[in-house]
Amino acid sequence: MSTHLYLDSGDPQHTRDLLEQGVLLAGVTTNPSLVVRHPEVVARIEQKEYFTKNEINALYKQIVQEIATMVDESVSVEVYANCDTTAREMLEQAWEMNGWIHNAHIKLPATPAGLTVAEQLVAEGIRVNLTLCFTQEQAAAVASATVGAAPGQVLLSPFIGRLDDKGQNGMSLIYHIQRMYHEAGVEHVRLLAASLRSREHLLACYAADVDIITAPYQLLLEWSDDDFPMPEESFMYEPGLIEIPYEEHDVHTPWRSFTLQHPLVTAGVEGFAEDWDAVLGEVGRK
Ligand code: E4P
Repeated sequence: MSTHLYLDSGDPQHTRDLLEQGVLLAGVTTNPSLVVRHPEVVARIEQKEYFTKNEINALYKQIVQEIATMVDESVSVEVYANCDTTAREMLEQAWEMNGWIHNAHIKLPATPAGLTVAEQLVAEGIRVNLTLCFTQEQAAAVASATVGAAPGQVLLSPFIGRLDDKGQNGMSLIYHIQRMYHEAGVEHVRLLAASLRSREHLLACYAADVDIITAPYQLLLEWSDDDFPMPEESFMYEPGLIEIPYEEHDVHTPWRSFTLQHPLVTAGVEGFAEDWDAVLGEVGRK
């Protein structure tokens, strides 16, 4: 499969703009932090008019329904999860969100609770996107938990930029997961490179022939303004960051035996939940 391009945004106007600019978007990814940056949410919070849980969920539904009319392949819709959210609570959200649109991938954290839900949803034929991936062990566990899935049913989102932010070369995680999946013959999980920060990231992902790239609005707008440059054959990605070493993992091992903890996973789960909670008033948070 050649690389498919998605937009990483919670604002339907961004999708509309880029499509009008001729950017060939096959899908869109959203997350709680992106949705609370939607202009309607920002305007209300500036007026200190907080949301109830039902109101913010209704707005999220409206946003993804609007986006789903503009892209065919996939719209990722993320469940609310903090560190205490149970698998059952995520599952109920997932069922509801999957009914919002015809082309959803339900985004779940690549944590023990998230993988428990992913395993069940995949068996029910529902599409999933395992997010907040920072390690090869998480990638091995995702492949193991979702074995038997149909092609395209499972996406895995390694976060390049957040690893770079910590001084580690996030792209090396992409290369390692590609290698591990290739060597083990994993074909049911598609890699969706996420948390892109720069043109270099975009070019490195194209050069690596990643299955799917999701990139923020501004990055794609500038790339489109420059007429969509692609990496030269001689393109070398050398960010001068610490390389993450390759690890040997057997993707056929039962997924519960993998270690899924990582400080960036915890920080990521907490960050998404905090951004979402911040738009809820006192009543909404209870
Ligand atoms: C997409 O699926 C991710 O949620 C997103 O790319 C995260 O990006 P960030 O690290 O810039 O928040």
